[in-house]
Amino acid sequence: MTASSTVRRGRPAVAEDAAARAAHRWEERVQRGAHPLVYPAFRALARRGPVVRVPGLGVVVNDAATAREVLLDTEHFSKVGPGAPSDLWTPVLGPSVLLNMEGEDHATLRRALSGLFTPRSVAQLTATEAGASLGTLAPRLLAGETVDLVSEVGALAGTVICRMTGLPPTDAAVRDAMVAAQSVVGLVRLHRRRLTPTQVRYAREVLDRLSEPAREAYRDGDPSTVPGRMRGLGLSEREALGAVGAFVMTGTETIQSFTPRLVALATDTGWTDRLLRAEPSDPLRGRVVEEALRVTVPTPAMLRSVRSAHRVGAVPVRAGERVVIATVTCCRAGGPFAPDHDADPVLRNLWFGAGPHFCLGMPLAMAQVGAVLDALRPLAAAGRTLAVTDREVARGVLIPSYRRLEIEARPVDGEQPAARGTGEETA
Ligand code: HEM
Repeated sequence: MTASSTVRRGRPAVAEDAAARAAHRWEERVQRGAHPLVYPAFRALARRGPVVRVPGLGVVVNDAATAREVLLDTEHFSKVGPGAPSDLWTPVLGPSVLLNMEGEDHATLRRALSGLFTPRSVAQLTATEAGASLGTLAPRLLAGETVDLVSEVGALAGTVICRMTGLPPTDAAVRDAMVAAQSVVGLVRLHRRRLTPTQVRYAREVLDRLSEPAREAYRDGDPSTVPGRMRGLGLSEREALGAVGAFVMTGTETIQSFTPRLVALATDTGWTDRLLRAEPSDPLRGRVVEEALRVTVPTPAMLRSVRSAHRVGAVPVRAGERVVIATVTCCRAGGPFAPDHDADPVLRNLWFGAGPHFCLGMPLAMAQVGAVLDALRPLAAAGRTLAVTDREVARGVLIPSYRRLEIEARPVDGEQPAARGTGEETA
């Protein structure tokens, strides 16, 4: 029996098919809003084979098993070198921000920072910040208010990352951090290997201004912050402030992209009620979140530079070539959103990468997603669920996202409104 022919909780198969198609169309709009040319190109390339060389772009990987092989093979593939993230980010952030490092230096810095990402640390940090910023979410919804989930999640992600990087978590600083992350990350285009000198100057100015207040955390050696821990390793103040920029960039937009898309997907496909009723430890909740990560793939691509002649799948590659892992294509090959189906083990967590650069922030990401779901749980206790009443996709961004996702509380068995919204009519 296929996902679409299963009848779940009394929803007829025809309605499920229509819901799955509507959810898919919205996800397509989100992807195309961010990447109107590259996303359709990725989809077309996927039909040409698991690994395809594209002049001017690189060797594109569309297959999960091959992607994993590349990510685990640090002898032949690197994040430092022509076409790799180091080309993009070292001129802006300096050489010591994990995502542009390899080998022993990378492992040492990762170890030093890992204490900030233990389940206990992230649970503490998230609980404190979520209590302050999400505490009113359910009461407002239950009182009949319409809430923009994108801005709510942005405030949480911004506050958490400000605390972690030693920035003052005031409303203004959080807003600055989100704007800085978006405007700098938004400069990246997959078909360009480097930022232009003007873009580098702009990005440095924005991130220098943002990071400046974290100087104190470095000077105090505060071990609850990224710069404090970097000082403990003997890294310079300049390097530590570069890392502040890197963490703001990696740790805000991804969460602000994913969490609203999770809620939208669950609502579009009739999963919200079950998701909100599930206890935090219920495997069903983990499964819905994981499946939404597989379908949304907040970081749609990963880059590597070829260190020495080798193969990517069956395609020979030369030193200095660029490998573009189309994570979004690899993960979406697993089919439409279907939390009640077993996940393919080859895809497991690929949306967070694999190997030595596996997302350091994953526990923090999961804690924040959990905090948002926890904040919405009182709706289930009150016999309510969520409806998406309006939405708008973000354009010209690197991380595909909704710009706005408005939600309201509804009776569980009430009719879902035909959600309004703006987006490309393509799928
Ligand atoms: C749903 C949310 C997130 C997704 C999907 C995601 C995805 C990823 C992926 C795919 C990589 C590996 C890139 C590669 O190998 O080229 C990565 C690395 C990284 N992520 Fe995340 N991320 C998320 C949230 C976060 C958060 C909240 C933080 C917090 C600071 C964070 C910090 C990092 C860092 C520092 C790295 C670099 C690790 C290294 O190079 O050793 N991420 N992320």
